[in-house]
Amino acid sequence: MSFKTLDDLTELAGKRALVRVDINVPMQDGRVTDATRIERVAPTIEELSGKGAKVILLAHFGRPKGKVVAEMSLKPVAAAVEEVLDHRVHFATLDEAEAAISKMADGDVLLLENTRFEPGEEKNDSDLASRYASLGDLYVNDAFSAAHRAHASTEGLAHKLPAYAGRTMQTELEALQKGLGDPKRPVVAIVGGAKVSTKIDLLTNLVKKVDAVVVGGGMANTFLAANGTDVQASLCEAELGQTAREIEAEAEKAGCSVVLPVDAVVAGEFKAGAPSDTVAVDAVPEGQMILDAGPQSVEKVKSWIEQANTLIWNGPLGAFEIEPFDAATVAAARYAAERTRAGELISVAGGGDTVAALNHAGVAGDFTYVSTAGGAFLEWMEGKTLPGVKALEDGGKG
Ligand code: 3PG
Repeated sequence: MSFKTLDDLTELAGKRALVRVDINVPMQDGRVTDATRIERVAPTIEELSGKGAKVILLAHFGRPKGKVVAEMSLKPVAAAVEEVLDHRVHFATLDEAEAAISKMADGDVLLLENTRFEPGEEKNDSDLASRYASLGDLYVNDAFSAAHRAHASTEGLAHKLPAYAGRTMQTELEALQKGLGDPKRPVVAIVGGAKVSTKIDLLTNLVKKVDAVVVGGGMANTFLAANGTDVQASLCEAELGQTAREIEAEAEKAGCSVVLPVDAVVAGEFKAGAPSDTVAVDAVPEGQMILDAGPQSVEKVKSWIEQANTLIWNGPLGAFEIEPFDAATVAAARYAAERTRAGELISVAGGGDTVAALNHAGVAGDFTYVSTAGGAFLEWMEGKTLPGVKALEDGGKG
């Protein structure tokens, strides 16, 4: 993987840097509830601004599908960016951009309105990419988490200006390379979450690349059922039995162990504090559902983590959002964190619920790298080429 980074940029004073960031952050009542993504891109913005560039931020927010949707304006997010940066952040729509940029002093930061308000954005329209390009002298992409989208601001624009990876993009790609590109073996993957159907490509790719895949969460029920276990009222995609068996056959061919739970915490209802029992997976009482992996399964997962030099983690082992069904996820996460802190393990986690699960276990900061990317992390782990990354590798124009 080779791409230019901010280290390749020397003369920045007065240059207009168009920086694609992912500040698609959770909001409630007009306020940002988790600023992690903003914090991740802050170093790139600060570095460029500190070197005298005029920093023009391009970002999407939600899925307005080419129309102006007031609730999806980035304006309230500009205030949150300002807070994180401790630096004034100006705001303008694309129509106002030219005038706003002409008033910028060196080091100023300007956020442009939601790129997805433009009908050409998601179509990767070349005219729109040229319009963006006319506003800058160079392009920096710091939005790994949006790099699986071939949109005008994530892909098209990279071909119109000299293109560079921002610091977060660079860190993310380096961490992922350590996790799956050129990992220190043995590599163990934990893949959890509710449904096999959303992770078929991921599992199929991983079993060819890693030494063991620990299957957890609702997905494990589908594998157990495919092998003849009666999982009773548990979440289970019975129609995917054949797919699960094919994944296991692929794994066997590749010498990868598929690790399934041997015991489970079961309850009659999906509710915090619901009365629960621990049983062997083939002894789930009638009408009950599996909501977490049991203590013996946790020991098994820990022994796999103990043997690993590299761990990649996507998805929780149980219904971690409600107690007491968070126990397996928390125990495994804390053990991985402990080995990472001791310098014995490279741990890379990402995707959807994973960050929330590691935060819940209080160990997100102890992992080697935690990606804030959802779909992009999954697609990378599936072995797919991400258009936004590919465009950077191509080097842009100039
Ligand atoms: C994300 O939240 O994963 C990214 O911002 C991408 O958003 P999207 O799935 O709407 O393209």
